[in-house]
Amino acid sequence: MKHTATLSLLTLLLAGCASAPSSEKVAALNDEARQTAAGLVQTLGGELKGAMTAGGPANAIGVCKEKAPQIAKAAMEKTGFQIRRVSPNNRNPKAVPDAWESQALADLDKRLAAGEKPETLDMHAVVDTPDGKVFRYAKALVTQPVCVNCHGPADKLSPEVKDKLAAEYPHDKAVGYAPGMIRGVLSMKKPL
Ligand code: HEC
Repeated sequence: MKHTATLSLLTLLLAGCASAPSSEKVAALNDEARQTAAGLVQTLGGELKGAMTAGGPANAIGVCKEKAPQIAKAAMEKTGFQIRRVSPNNRNPKAVPDAWESQALADLDKRLAAGEKPETLDMHAVVDTPDGKVFRYAKALVTQPVCVNCHGPADKLSPEVKDKLAAEYPHDKAVGYAPGMIRGVLSMKKPL
């Protein structure tokens, strides 16, 4: 009896080891996530600047609303990552962080306060879920001067931006930010 118990414990342990991804695999996923995230931030930033120059911030609201999900969708199809943007002070009602994302945000905020460079502030982990192991990645989206047009203090927003946001996002919490603050994270995940 004792022998069988030891054996099944051993089998369990081995099974656990077998499903743990190698550190090389995790490093490769992290590289891919980083590249994808950097590409997304760059594309979205370019679209945002273009729309702002063409028609001011009220015009550019559409970029954040429609273009951002389109750009993310193309990257999801290409890479197999699930990608979304979240924030504890969300504008999009669906952009609420889950437990891992909330913890990531708190950790990234601490690292930013400790002096880490905002451009490369990110983290990754392999987490256990009821459906198996999942690779998770979060990149801090740090507020730039341009973001303040739509995410700055409510009393500093232009009347056009204020009206449009009030009409499209009646429960908006994504205001009151200053350059240098983490506005949210770009969150990516892939089942292993
Ligand atoms: C022209 C206005 C505008 C500008 C400028 C802008 N945003 Fe947004 N942002 C929005 C809108 C509108 C949404 C909601 C989009 C949606 O419906 O998903 C949003 C959503 C977000 C979200 C997703 C979480 C949430 O609150 O719903 C993040 C993160 C974010 N913005 C970060 C930034 C950063 C960082 C910058 C500067 C690089 C920036 N934004 C510049 C209008 C703007």
